[in-house]
Amino acid sequence: MVLSLKDIRNVLVLGCGTLGARVGLRFALSGFQVKMYDIDKDIFPSAKTSQTQLLQYLAKKKLFNPQKTEEVLNSITWTTSPQLAAQEVHLINESVTEDVEVKLKVWEQFGVLSPAYTIFTTNTSFLLPSMFAEASGRPGRFCAFHFHDIFHANVVDIMPHAGTEKWVTELLVALSTVLEQVPVYVEKESPGYIFNSMLIGVLNSACTLLADGIGSVETIDKSWMGNLKTGIGPFGMMDAIGLDTAWHVAKRHEGRVNKKFISLLRQMIDDGKLGVKSGQGFYSYPNPRFKDPNFLS
Ligand SMILES: NC(=O)c1ccc[n+]([C@@H]2O[C@H](COP(=O)([O-])OP(=O)(O)OC[C@H]3O[C@@H](n4cnc5c(N)ncnc54)[C@H](O)[C@@H]3O)[C@@H](O)[C@H]2O)c1
Repeated sequence: MVLSLKDIRNVLVLGCGTLGARVGLRFALSGFQVKMYDIDKDIFPSAKTSQTQLLQYLAKKKLFNPQKTEEVLNSITWTTSPQLAAQEVHLINESVTEDVEVKLKVWEQFGVLSPAYTIFTTNTSFLLPSMFAEASGRPGRFCAFHFHDIFHANVVDIMPHAGTEKWVTELLVALSTVLEQVPVYVEKESPGYIFNSMLIGVLNSACTLLADGIGSVETIDKSWMGNLKTGIGPFGMMDAIGLDTAWHVAKRHEGRVNKKFISLLRQMIDDGKLGVKSGQGFYSYPNPRFKDPNFLS
């Protein structure tokens, strides 16, 4: 059964970490009924806090009417039951850990549990939809739908694999606009889509400069921010992404990423430093040094 945009009402987000929380909120803001699913119920409080803080940020920017806060948050439900999660869902966005085995298991599970009409999308940063399409049991309905920051950077990548049916990609392009995202259609499967492919080069250079003792975290970020007039540098970006997610990506690109840096990331993760989500990474949060108005002076 081919779905059209108006058929999509119930959306399921798999994984309620850094990105899942944002994806769920974005769908709720656009009027969808959203179910949030995770294996770990302990992640729900921080995901809810992140959504509330994002609504406050949007209200401050006059992009959201704060009187609608309750209405938006009430359209989001939370569950650790895969059976309940999959019921009557029209579209799934999978935002679980960036690990092939974890994602394969999730797609095998939801391929069996979901209604036959459900469209499957993955938010993977560097893996390919063809790695999971068969495991999901419905390769024709499987496509990468990859968000970035969502609220500060509103770009979404749509990357089919060779077996994705055309109507699915067309529907996702139309859905992007409803979600107030700029659709970037990626013609051929490629790890990291377009922006992430470029970004990994920058992050790897920053990591090599740090690992080789050429500059400190702050010096490298200052150099980037001062030259490009942006509010965040490579290490601030890694903190925002999450150092565990960055580590998964770096491990997968082991040949291309500085080994000393992979070990440093591992050490930081073992010390509980995951970036913004744990309050400590290359910087301390909620008030990291690079946000200080005098950082570049
Ligand atoms: N962090 C970013 O900035 C960013 C940006 C774009 C895309 N992504 C992608 O989104 C995905 C998630 O990244 P993240 O940074 O939010 O990770 P995260 O570590 O913050 O969250 C992952 C969540 O997945 C859950 N999870 C793990 N196994 C599960 C399972 N079997 N079933 C259900 N939930 C499970 C974990 O409990 C955790 O809450 C990754 O594929 C990542 O590449 C991340």
